[in-house]
Amino acid sequence: MVFGERPGPSPRPAPGRLPDGTRDERLQKFLARAGVASRRHGEALILAGRVRVNGEVVRVLGTRVRPALDRVQVDGELVRPERLVTLLLHKPAGYITSLSDPQGRPVVTSLLPAGEFPRLFPVGRLDWDTEGLLLLTNDGALAHALSHPRFHVRRLYHAKVKGRPTPEALGRLARGVLCDGERLSALAVEVLRTTPHNAWLALTLGEGRYRQVRRMCEAVGYPVVRLVRVGLGPLALRDLPRGAWRLLTPGELCSLQALVPGASVSSVASARQGTGARPGAAGGVRGRTPRESSPRGQPRERAPAGKPRESAPSGKPRESAPSGKPRESA
Ligand code: URA
Repeated sequence: MVFGERPGPSPRPAPGRLPDGTRDERLQKFLARAGVASRRHGEALILAGRVRVNGEVVRVLGTRVRPALDRVQVDGELVRPERLVTLLLHKPAGYITSLSDPQGRPVVTSLLPAGEFPRLFPVGRLDWDTEGLLLLTNDGALAHALSHPRFHVRRLYHAKVKGRPTPEALGRLARGVLCDGERLSALAVEVLRTTPHNAWLALTLGEGRYRQVRRMCEAVGYPVVRLVRVGLGPLALRDLPRGAWRLLTPGELCSLQALVPGASVSSVASARQGTGARPGAAGGVRGRTPRESSPRGQPRERAPAGKPRESAPSGKPRESAPSGKPRESA
C-alpha cells in the first residue's frame, strides 16, 4: 500500500546559467580551477598581459569566460578547464559525509582512490550511521542544484524500523509530523516487508532535512534501526556493493540535466568503478559495465561471517513476512 503519493512541484532552471546550459565565470577563477595559478597569481598574469581569450589579450580582471566555449591561453599555452567528475558511492555505515574530521573518524572520501579525484566533495549529507547512495562531485553548480529545496529532488530511503507501524502511523508520516517545531512529511510511504518485530519501509522525500527519516519515524513511535538511501532523483544504488563507487553513466548525467535544467553534462562518465581504499571494504567490481539505473534500486548486504544473511527487502512490496520462518528478527 502506498500512503500519500503526491507529485512534487516541477523544477525550474538553475540560476547563473547561459542559455546553452553552460556557466560563465571570472577569468581568474577559471585559471585557478584549471590549476594554472592561484586566483591572486591569475590576476597578476592577467594584469601582465599574459592571458589571451579567443586570441585577444585580456587585462581586465572582471572578464568572464565560458569554460566550455572560450579558448584561454597563458603565455601562448592553451588552458584546459578542470574536467567535471560526478561519482556515486555506496556509503557504508560508520563514515562521515565530510572531507575531514577533527576527531579522526573515517570520512567518505577515504573510500576513493587516493589522489585520483582530489577535489570531489559530497552532495548533501548522510548521517554517520546511514548507508547508501551518496554523490561526490567537483561540479559546484550541480551539487548546489541537487541540494536546493526549490528543485525538490526526490530521495528514496529504505528504513528498517522497530515494531510494525500501524496504518494510522503510516498515514501520519505521509500527512506530516511535527518534529522540534518543523512539519516533516514524506511524499510516499510504503511497507516493503514485515517480520514479527520489525518492518522495512520505503519513504520518498522531496527534501533533505536534518535526520529527517529518523526524526519522523521516531515521532510516530517506530524508531529507525537501519537506514539506506537507495535513490536520488533518477539515480539508483542498485547492486553496487557497500564501500564501492562508480562514475555516473552518460544516461544518468542526461537524466540529472533533465531534472536540474542547466546542470553540467560535461561531467566525466565512463565505466570506471572502484572499491573503497580501506582494506575490508566491499568486494571489487572493477571492469564491470555499470547498468542504467532505476530509482527502485536495492542495496545488498553482506552478512558477517557465521551469521545468517539479512537482506534489505526486494523491490516487490510485501505487507507481511513470508509464511514460514521470518528472514530477520529484531
Ligand atoms: N534521513 C535521516 O534521518 N538520515 C539520513 O542520513 C538521511 C535522511
